[in-house]
Amino acid sequence: MPGFGTALVTGASSGIGAATARLLAAGGTHVVLHGRDRERLDALAAETGGAALPADLAEPSDIAHLAERMLSGPLDLLVHNAGLGWAGPLPELPADRLTRLVAVNLTAPLELTRALLPAMLARGHGRIVFVSSIAGRTGVAGEAVYAATKSGLDAFADSLRFELDGTGVEVGVVVPGVVRTEFFARRGRPYTRSTPRPVSAERVAAAVVRAAEKPGDYYVPRWLRLPVALRGAVPGAYRTLATRFGAGS
Ligand SMILES: NC(=O)c1ccc[n+]([C@@H]2O[C@H](COP(=O)([O-])OP(=O)(O)OC[C@H]3O[C@@H](n4cnc5c(N)ncnc54)[C@H](OP(=O)(O)O)[C@@H]3O)[C@@H](O)[C@H]2O)c1
Repeated sequence: MPGFGTALVTGASSGIGAATARLLAAGGTHVVLHGRDRERLDALAAETGGAALPADLAEPSDIAHLAERMLSGPLDLLVHNAGLGWAGPLPELPADRLTRLVAVNLTAPLELTRALLPAMLARGHGRIVFVSSIAGRTGVAGEAVYAATKSGLDAFADSLRFELDGTGVEVGVVVPGVVRTEFFARRGRPYTRSTPRPVSAERVAAAVVRAAEKPGDYYVPRWLRLPVALRGAVPGAYRTLATRFGAGS
């Protein structure tokens, strides 16, 4: 795997982001490690030779500061990975949690991209990878707001692909199913279904690196593209099947 120069990985203090940072660093990339947990970021920085850059993505001033710091040098790869979930019936979702889900999962990557893209365009070179979710492509009962944030991210990434055609800046999207990380404990509801079977964070990290090397859409596991294709081709039949087999969380 070739190095990417400098990469910013958001949400690098845990799970998929930490695994991605390790993989990138092993390939010779200088990694800027973003998250909120300073202790974890410092430990990973020591391990990877990267630099820790804490910021709360729910705070617009933190996003602006993060962007300002990143603009002090060239950035070759931007990995939008930080995110959080929430599961349960929509009427039980607290208003402040809804605001936070949208701010961290959707507004923050949009804002960061808007701030960092001009420098990539000026250099005629750059890669932007979004960590989305299968929930954003198929919809999941009990995760309507989470799914909406990921769906929004997908539409943003697709639109940018058109907009950036021929500029040297390319966009990749990784669509994980269920991944063994702290995500479920943090959202307050464990994952109890039998399918999709959880995959490792390292497997998703490998897809993130592939999406940076050869921009496109990467499902993890790969078979997840099938329900998405079915939904696109025959949405009514898909909905009937998904309801029967439980598109629930
Ligand atoms: N796990 C899954 O099954 C799964 C499936 C599909 C998609 N995804 C997506 O994969 C991405 C990574 O999730 P994960 O599974 O690796 O979960 P995780 O282990 O909980 O990691 C989440 C990361 O996001 C960061 N983060 C959360 N809120 C933040 C905030 N307000 N400001 C800054 N950083 C914040 C966390 O940083 P701190 O801990 O330092 O705050 C942490 O580094 C997320 O976008 C998630 O939606 C996960």
